[in-house]
Amino acid sequence: MPDRVIEIENLTKIFGRKLIAVNNVSLNVEKGAIVGFLGQNGAGKTTTIRLLLGLTRPTAGVVKIFGEKMTCNSASLRKKIGYLPTNPKFPPKMTPIEYLDFVGKLFSLTKEERTGRLSNLIRAVGLLPSASREIKGFSTGMVTRLGLAAALMNEPELLILDEPTSGLDPAGRKSTLDLISEIGKKKTIFVSSHILTDIDRICTHASVIDDGRVVFSGSIKEMKKKTQSDTLRLELDGDLDSFCDALKTVGSIVSFTRRGDLGVDLTLDSQASMLDLLKEVVNLISKYKLELISITSSSSSVEESFLEIVKADESRGFLRAV
Ligand SMILES: Nc1ncnc2c1ncn2[C@@H]1O[C@H](COP(=O)(O)OP(=O)(O)OP(=O)(O)O)[C@@H](O)[C@H]1O
Ligand SMILES: [Mg+2]
Repeated sequence: MPDRVIEIENLTKIFGRKLIAVNNVSLNVEKGAIVGFLGQNGAGKTTTIRLLLGLTRPTAGVVKIFGEKMTCNSASLRKKIGYLPTNPKFPPKMTPIEYLDFVGKLFSLTKEERTGRLSNLIRAVGLLPSASREIKGFSTGMVTRLGLAAALMNEPELLILDEPTSGLDPAGRKSTLDLISEIGKKKTIFVSSHILTDIDRICTHASVIDDGRVVFSGSIKEMKKKTQSDTLRLELDGDLDSFCDALKTVGSIVSFTRRGDLGVDLTLDSQASMLDLLKEVVNLISKYKLELISITSSSSSVEESFLEIVKADESRGFLRAV
């Protein structure tokens, strides 16, 4: 049996007796995985994360971390987790060195441990030039990196990050994602986001939450496969009429759309061999004496997959309701 770092069983959180923020969620996170927890605003990501950390009491269900039940009284279990909340706030008058030293004290680290760890972490997150500057002048990206360093002070096996790319510009997002990816080589990470391309870049697995319910859990590859329909865009010059007639006889093309005289978009059977199809298409292009200007392939992005999963689930919900 694989090592389970997080086990969530039938977790439900209802606020004020009527708002179901987390609705019967079950999911597992294996050791070493980087799991993206995807969902739109208000989907229930932060509530789930707070339940994982025992910061909120569940209405029903169980959370186990490292095989141990998490409750609001599990302070020692919580100490084994690194946690970065959305848009973290730090004491503005402190410097990163002072703050990380303070965090180290909270974890009862010795002076030697604190000094060693904080200097390594400050270097690792790229804050060395600002190590002795007051936090109050820091950019959002610098604050996030300090938050990551703080979350790592206790050398946790598991890192839980709630929207670490929130509020960052593209450069800040890239450096933060690279950093998380690097950390993920040694640790298990559960990271929430609504930016799907970010999750696509760094995660091995994804769980999609929509309106409190998990509507997909699996590898990023499975998620793409589930909804994938590969498309090929051919940019062509010449007489397209006979070519388009001939395309209808190619079995591995599910459908195609002619873009006037510019070319065609082909939707391919996901089981078919791309190489065989390309050979057939190129033969037809040559047979009908067309000029091939370009071929571009686009498989459905995580973003599209995500939206399709949510949409499919919504229509099931609708069917349930009628
Ligand atoms: N303490 C609370 N009391 C009442 N309702 C709450 C509370 N916390 C969250 N909610 C509600 O629960 C739902 C889920 O909120 P949550 O913060 O978990 O979403 P989220 O996926 O993290 O969203 P975002 O992307 O905006 O951070 C929302 O409808 C929210 O209004
Ligand atoms: Mg949130």
